[in-house]
Amino acid sequence: MHCTTPNWARVAFLLLCLSLPTTLALSVERRATTCNGHAELCNRSYGNVTFVGAHNSYAVGTNNLATNQDYDVTQQLNDGIRMLQMQAHQSTDAIHLCHTSCLLYEGGTLAAYLAKVKTWMDSNPNDVVTLLIVNSDNLAPSAFDSVFQSAGLVSLSYTPPSAVVPASQWPTLGSMIDAGKRLVTFLDANANFDSVPYIIDEFTNIWETAFDVTDPTFDCNVNRTKGDTNTQMYLINHFLDEVVNVVATSIAPDKGQLNVTNAESGPGSLGDQADRCGAQNGRYPNFMLVDFYEFGGGSVFKVGADLNGVTYSPTSPIATPLPDSTSSGSSTGKGSGALPSLHVSSTHFGALMALLSGTVIGALALF
Ligand SMILES: *[C@@H]1O[C@H](CO)[C@@H](O)[C@H](O)[C@H]1NC(C)=O
Ligand SMILES: *[C@@H]1O[C@H](CO)[C@@H](O)[C@H](O)[C@H]1NC(C)=O
Ligand SMILES: *[C@@H]1O[C@H](CO)[C@@H](O)[C@H](O)[C@H]1NC(C)=O
Ligand SMILES: *[C@@H]1O[C@H](CO)[C@@H](O)[C@H](O)[C@H]1NC(C)=O
Repeated sequence: MHCTTPNWARVAFLLLCLSLPTTLALSVERRATTCNGHAELCNRSYGNVTFVGAHNSYAVGTNNLATNQDYDVTQQLNDGIRMLQMQAHQSTDAIHLCHTSCLLYEGGTLAAYLAKVKTWMDSNPNDVVTLLIVNSDNLAPSAFDSVFQSAGLVSLSYTPPSAVVPASQWPTLGSMIDAGKRLVTFLDANANFDSVPYIIDEFTNIWETAFDVTDPTFDCNVNRTKGDTNTQMYLINHFLDEVVNVVATSIAPDKGQLNVTNAESGPGSLGDQADRCGAQNGRYPNFMLVDFYEFGGGSVFKVGADLNGVTYSPTSPIATPLPDSTSSGSSTGKGSGALPSLHVSSTHFGALMALLSGTVIGALALF
């Protein structure tokens, strides 16, 4: 219905239009005044914002070497996580989110996970959320598209104008929110702009630092890319692993160091790596993936806010860390002696054994 349409049947509405200046707003587009929690971010290009991400966001649980988070995706989003990284595997019935193998850690279907994301995004209309999907089985983008269609997420998805978008060319968060195109999805392999343009190729658009490091130096060097690192956005993998010997040598999150790893400053901290990477690359990282994000009591979000030049002011306290329990009953302690506190649960131990006796022999990387 438009105020300019002369239509006798609409005369009452027309009179309303002429008499009430406030109704002029009917013809004015909605403008977001807060974007990802901050008014200052509305006018910032997506490619110039730092987002904190949950590494293996679906791999949730305690006392299990194959998990990377304590809280599920809904709580992660409530607390401020805005990039959700996940590994997609083709199971017999559907795409599932699993860690290395569905025998090792089964995180449910992609459909169930995306339903939670959709629910959260519907009740948080002023937030831009990014998905980073590891395409473990090299599925065609159409396989992901069907799940996104069913989840009702296609209409929320941002479609770039071209397959590759330099960091400086991304739209502002405000314009993405105003257009209702606030879900950005990257796929690490097999994306195809011609067939499913809203599923964006990761490595021509984003470069990454090394992942699964066991050395807390956390360098800022390019480790994986397929594009021009001068103009691409970039992601730092800020999660520390340790070598564990369960049934074979493998690596798992170094939970004993989380307070240091997730901290705002100091050697090995997120703040320290972000600062060094900012200095080395002339701009701060766009994405920072962390494990067990709530360790540090919000420090990871404080780092993100600092890089964005805004004030971290959560409206409610973030989730409380869930330390592993010990089966021996001995104190967990702190520092690097976390190994005794880490256990693969008995079901997962069975899965590990199955894996080791199967095709995976030797080092098992829980990345
Ligand atoms: C938004 O940014 C543009 C340039 O990037 C600037 O011209 C404009 O004044 C800004 N608007 C506001 C409201 O800050
Ligand atoms: C990436 O990082 C891993 C782990 O540090 C390292 O082994 C590998 O050589 C790096 N690759 C490149 C191309 O930098
Ligand atoms: C955003 O732009 C500012 C000003 O150029 C820069 O200091 C900052 O590093 C940029 N952040 C990102 C994530 O690009
Ligand atoms: C991490 O910090 C919290 C809060 O300061 C503390 O309760 C917890 O014991 C620390 N954990 C470790 C492993 O240092």
